[in-house]
Amino acid sequence: MNIAMIGAGYVGLVSGACLADFGHRVTCFDVDEQKIASLRRAEIPIFEPGLDRVVAENVTAGRLFFTHHLAEAVADADVVFIAVGTPSRRGDGFADLTFVYAAARMIAQSLSGFTVVATKSTVPIGTGDEVDRILREENPGADVAVASNPEFLREGSAIEDFKRPDRIVIGAEDDRTRELLAEVYRPLYLNDAPLVFTTRRTAELIKYAANAFLAMKITFINEIADLCERTGANVQEVARGIGLDGRIGPKFLNAGPGFGGSCFPKDTLAFAKIGQDFEAPLRLVETTIAVNDQRKRAMARKVVAACGGDVRGKRIAVLGLTFKPNTDDMRESPSIVIVQALLDAGAEVVGYDPAGIEAARSVLPPIDYADTAYKAAEEADCLVIVTEWNEFRSLDLEQLSRLMRGPVFVDLRNIYRRHEVERFGFSYFSVGRPNGAE
Ligand code: UDX
Repeated sequence: MNIAMIGAGYVGLVSGACLADFGHRVTCFDVDEQKIASLRRAEIPIFEPGLDRVVAENVTAGRLFFTHHLAEAVADADVVFIAVGTPSRRGDGFADLTFVYAAARMIAQSLSGFTVVATKSTVPIGTGDEVDRILREENPGADVAVASNPEFLREGSAIEDFKRPDRIVIGAEDDRTRELLAEVYRPLYLNDAPLVFTTRRTAELIKYAANAFLAMKITFINEIADLCERTGANVQEVARGIGLDGRIGPKFLNAGPGFGGSCFPKDTLAFAKIGQDFEAPLRLVETTIAVNDQRKRAMARKVVAACGGDVRGKRIAVLGLTFKPNTDDMRESPSIVIVQALLDAGAEVVGYDPAGIEAARSVLPPIDYADTAYKAAEEADCLVIVTEWNEFRSLDLEQLSRLMRGPVFVDLRNIYRRHEVERFGFSYFSVGRPNGAE
């Protein structure tokens, strides 16, 4: 099949490369000329494990192309995917659909033969109707159908998520469209990945509902963690105890500093706005947003308390700045709020991250950066793990205790056990696991 991918950002690039890997001929378009030029040199503009290999192999095999000319991508395409950004609109938090509608207008001019235009971007319910209207307005004679085919990729494991999805959601209004889109994913459903066929509006809603549910799940366990700390219970054992119930499930029950990233914060906000607009308020989602916002600053208060209630003049090493491991993405990372709050409290902060320092420099307030965890720890009074990168799971604690001035170790991701850390003279603080409870 011939596939056009409009937008070579995160979702577009990963999906385009993986679809080429299935044997389709995929052309990725982006308005950013420099991005296209570097992709043609097989330089990947995002940090995603394994993506460089999939791109390089499929470019070499003559299945994956990059272009700055939209008509080139769309003209022969059977399916055109819209995978442009839908950021939060400044001021009101609604999803900004400027790029989606601009893409629809451009696509309309180049359509030929029966073409399915499918949105992969996360878009409010009813956006497909508007894309359909734009396409017909701009090109009344076109044989085109609009579908919704949301993506559930996680940063850091996007290739694996694409190739082994829990499900593929296809929202379409007619059988011809459904069949064409099912054909795109043939290698996956032959491999038993469930296909969920539904309407366009339902597919659009599924994407938001999935992200909101996961965000609620995380927020729920975070509140339970607080209760564990007050009551002497252990949140990890609570998570296991409830997660083994098949109706609840064990995933996304890791307590921590609150969710961040490019999806959950913006999508929960947009979903809450959609609920209000349709007069079906999503109060659980609204509360999730508020609780998660407050949690980030509360984590800084936890660090201050661990340091004896005052961090003025103290040096705090923050390990892990990105919103999760295996990415260089700083968007809505809890570290942004935590670092700011520690500076507000008078601390001196030094940060280290395996991949995110460059991005951190432009979003964090001015702090010092170290190029290893150990350099960050030098002369620090307190060490805080904010993101659970693998390299932080096996730190040389003896070396750290020698390098540091103070003995405070705050583990906001629960990746250590108290006795392992306290053996080296540290005072250990974690999330939802009070003294002696882990
Ligand atoms: C998410 C969804 O998982 C994905 O399906 C969707 O398409 C895009 O948004 P992503 O933002 O890449 O993916 O990361 P994810 O692994 O879901 O983590 C999101 C945030 O939740 C991170 O800040 C992470 O640290 C936090 N989290 C996740 C927890 O605090 N606890 C958990 O148990 C799981």
